[in-house]
Amino acid sequence: MNQPATAAHLAKAPAAPAYVSHAKLKAWVAEAARLTRPDHIHWCDGSQEEYDRLCAEMVASGMLIKLNPEKRPGCFLARSDPDDVARMEERTFVCSRSEEDAGPNNNWVAPDEMPATLEKLFDGCMRGRTMYVIPYSMGPLGSHIAHIGVELTDSPYVVVNMKLMTRIGRKVLDVLGGDGYFVPCVHTVGAPLAPGKKDVPWPSNKEHKYIVHYPETKEIWSYGSGYGGNALLGKKCLALRIASIMAREQGWLAEHMLIVGVETPEGRKHYIAAAFPSACGKTNLAMLIPPKAFKGWKVTTVGEDIAWIKPGRDGRLYAINPEAGAFGVAPGTSVETNPNCMAAVMRNTIFTNVALAPDGDVWWEGKTQEPPGELTDWQGKPWTPGCGRKAAHPNARFTVQSSQIPSLDPEWENPDGVPISAFLFGGRRATTVPLVAEALDWEHGVYLAATMASETTAAIVGKVGVVRRDPFAMLPFCGYHFGDYFRHWLKIGRGLKHPPRIFGVNWFRRDEQGKFIWPGYGENMRVIKWVVERCEGKGGAAETQQGRMPRYEDLEWQGLEGFDRARFEKLMAVTPEQWRAELKGHAELFDKLKARLPRELAQRRERMERAL
Ligand code: GTP
Ligand code: SPV
Ligand code: MN
Repeated sequence: MNQPATAAHLAKAPAAPAYVSHAKLKAWVAEAARLTRPDHIHWCDGSQEEYDRLCAEMVASGMLIKLNPEKRPGCFLARSDPDDVARMEERTFVCSRSEEDAGPNNNWVAPDEMPATLEKLFDGCMRGRTMYVIPYSMGPLGSHIAHIGVELTDSPYVVVNMKLMTRIGRKVLDVLGGDGYFVPCVHTVGAPLAPGKKDVPWPSNKEHKYIVHYPETKEIWSYGSGYGGNALLGKKCLALRIASIMAREQGWLAEHMLIVGVETPEGRKHYIAAAFPSACGKTNLAMLIPPKAFKGWKVTTVGEDIAWIKPGRDGRLYAINPEAGAFGVAPGTSVETNPNCMAAVMRNTIFTNVALAPDGDVWWEGKTQEPPGELTDWQGKPWTPGCGRKAAHPNARFTVQSSQIPSLDPEWENPDGVPISAFLFGGRRATTVPLVAEALDWEHGVYLAATMASETTAAIVGKVGVVRRDPFAMLPFCGYHFGDYFRHWLKIGRGLKHPPRIFGVNWFRRDEQGKFIWPGYGENMRVIKWVVERCEGKGGAAETQQGRMPRYEDLEWQGLEGFDRARFEKLMAVTPEQWRAELKGHAELFDKLKARLPRELAQRRERMERAL
């Protein structure tokens, strides 16, 4: 329902529909409206009609382009402002009372200083627009692992994306009841619309961007960007930054991890959770299809970006996917690399910053080997194969409901989660780091995850391809001091009777010509099979300082005959010079975190260095 929301009107009339019984929620929405001054307030009921109507309105306003219903039924394309194409780590803040608590891994501003800055920006920021109230649940409705948030936003694009990626609307308010706890999230594109002025296709604020988290009050305020993790506040802001803080307080884990099920030919089921940095292969591994030679092996998808993990009474860890949809990287996705994903995005999908084909279909780099003869690029400009520009932005994305993923695991919505047998940690490393190594024990696994590094990708604004330490793939997402976070992981492990095994992986090692040595994608099943065998107490390995590593004969090579022992050795090589440099990198990280670094980790590093 839409209703006028002038300050005077709001002061008198209730701004919420009759079915909203939560007094605190209503008061908070009214207060936010007084500050941001939208023309209308709309409480999202989460219905399909509401979704369809918003999409139609965005098509009319030019924010969405309807794709060819024969090729992509129910699909739309959005083109963002060229300055608003990815998460902005530099503009992301954690405002804890003490700077030390935020740690060197976060940008910090004092919590009594930030509100003054934000209030100035948010004052009147929704003028000329509608404020949408989106109640949403991260995790199956009513699950004891789930949490509820309410996002206020002036972007209809955010509403429809939240509808695909989380559980939104009236059913969430039913669970919330009259006084349930919710995380308040306020988002604006920061582009008030003067009366009579025509809107741009992608409003945002060129001058100011802020993505702000208050750990103590657990509030989220986001200003100026409409893109992905900056604007869809359930994802990185709530499900990772704020949830990581809750998880530490309450004894669980909120992680940047995919979750896959792996079933052996004998019917034994294992679940694996894997942490890779942004645009480093989570979606691909989550939807992997085993090569033909792996007869009887089945891989199923529980989640592809975030895992919430709790110790169970049986001494194992159980994980849920707090999301209900994917916001995945389009470039590089094809019927060869990820057929499940390609099937998922055939219908009811929102594409952002991909290229548009003359027939009303979409295209991106890597979708087909031969690009079409002509396209409209992600900025709406004519494009031809030789023109020297990318047709899709490298961080172009698709938004799709999990229910459309063909490989979805039957247990994916189990409110108690699925039991985890193994954790994988991996980044993009051209050198130094072997294809796979199993940690010697939990503490060694934590060390390995804490010291992982990766080349940066287009998923963040900034320099691409720079190697940086990215502990647990959580550098942009851990809402508190990494030293405390490592300690939390050590503590969780000590409390488990059956801790998952921990592995480091690297699909991205390159040869002298700069080519990837490992074929990756579906072929990663060869590593997954070995991981499962290790979990079952089988699977051979050589014990080294860097962990237990498979020898050539320990991996399945059927169907990949060209990959000989020499190539494998290249992929697995750990040279003393490279390791010396690597340990130096670990020391630099530990030095930054030293105020709160667990002593075990520093000592382990010293032992490794001495042994070299
Ligand atoms: P976020 O959604 O940003 O958190 O990332 P993600 O980890 O889900 O990213 P995704 O799986 O979509 O990774 C996309 C990029 O990784 C594309 O460039 C792929 O081509 C590349 N990629 C995925 N798996 C592999 C692999 O096994 N080998 C190689 N070489 N590249 C891969
Ligand atoms: C990531 O960058 O890790 C993502 C995409 O999953 S975004 O939601 O934009 O953060
Ligand atoms: Mn991610």
